[in-house]
Amino acid sequence: MNILVTGGAGYIGSHTCVALLEAGHSVIIADNLCNSKAENVKKIIKIAGQEITFYEIDVTDSQAIEALFKNYKIDGVIHFAGLKAVGESVEKPLSYYYNNIVSTMVLAKACEKYNVNKLVFSSSATVYGDNTVPFVETMNLLPTTNPYGETKAMSERILTDIAKANPAFSVSLLRYFNPVGAHESGLLGEAPNGVPNNLMPFVTQVAKGKLDKLRVFGNDYPTVDGTGVRDYIHVMDLAEGHVAALNNLTKGVHIYNLGTGQGTSVLELVHAFEEANDIEVPYEFIERRPGDIASCYADASKAERELGWTAKRDIVAMCRDAWRFEKKLKDLVETD
Ligand code: NAD
Ligand code: UD1
Repeated sequence: MNILVTGGAGYIGSHTCVALLEAGHSVIIADNLCNSKAENVKKIIKIAGQEITFYEIDVTDSQAIEALFKNYKIDGVIHFAGLKAVGESVEKPLSYYYNNIVSTMVLAKACEKYNVNKLVFSSSATVYGDNTVPFVETMNLLPTTNPYGETKAMSERILTDIAKANPAFSVSLLRYFNPVGAHESGLLGEAPNGVPNNLMPFVTQVAKGKLDKLRVFGNDYPTVDGTGVRDYIHVMDLAEGHVAALNNLTKGVHIYNLGTGQGTSVLELVHAFEEANDIEVPYEFIERRPGDIASCYADASKAERELGWTAKRDIVAMCRDAWRFEKKLKDLVETD
């Protein structure tokens, strides 16, 4: 199939493009590079050994998107493009609602106009709020604590309503748990701007000596060792989950958790990283981060049952691949 990948130059999108090409699909990327670099497109081509088409366009620009649909025979869309920093979304709610909601609507409208009936959407486990773990797709969604999370819940609702009104439309809503790690070549990975908000990039930067130590947010949660528990998933497993979702797409709305089903605490992850890479990660405990929940992990059985997909790579592979990528990164700014 000819797949339009919005946000395909970004972290998860770039790995998914590799998996799509390896599965025999063709790829057209639409990305405005607001949080990624064009060189990622070259790296995708290098890893997969295949050409792709890249357009530097904003997905909220309906004319530019419609021109793409007019000029290419698109069989399906994977919609990654979006802003994703939780803290920033609280400071700039309008940017988040505009970018994340309008892009979804522009794409859905172009799909309708050009009769493209397959869409896969990047949602997040954040839509479950503070439900009881493990999170199952049938649970009622709870309010999230920030505008970013709300844009995911709203986009899910918008796409669900569109699919209800148009029986030919097939939508897969993929709720990601915590994507970490990198392509095993060490070429593609997660390179956040400034000081990382998320755990794994913080850990790799401490290991590299860019940051002095990890601050563990709270050690009094009701978990195995008092630190927060999450379902870390290797980004290449996540990427392969998209290929499975696309290949198995049938009419209507389908929701899948993409996680491992396994909870790992902050300390367990730190120790796994130290062992996998034979390197020390100094840390200290500080107070809880506002908005954090104690535990978040998936019931991942629906994706296995219906898509035949399960995560294959373990926490050691995630730590090893994340570190390989960090070591290869050229540090333009060492003083973040
Ligand atoms: P990312 O920032 O690396 O990738 C997003 C890409 O979208 C970037 O390349 C950015 O330049 C592009 N983009 C953003 N707005 C755009 C627009 N209006 N037009 C064109 N391009 C635009 O983030 P990621 O981690 O790869 O996340 C991809 C998707 O998955 C996002 O929708 C994110 O919300 C969702 N998600 C991510 C995580 C995670 O932990 N990384 C978890 C759950 C869901
Ligand atoms: C964050 C987002 C969430 C998003 C998810 C995946 C917040 C509040 N939530 O979730 O919306 O869907 O990423 O991208 O940002 N931790 C530390 N020290 C650190 C960083 C993290 O102890 O410096 C802990 C956290 O308290 C948590 C765990 O590590 O227990 C994972 O944190 P993080 O990587 O930020 O992901 P989430 O909190 O799950």
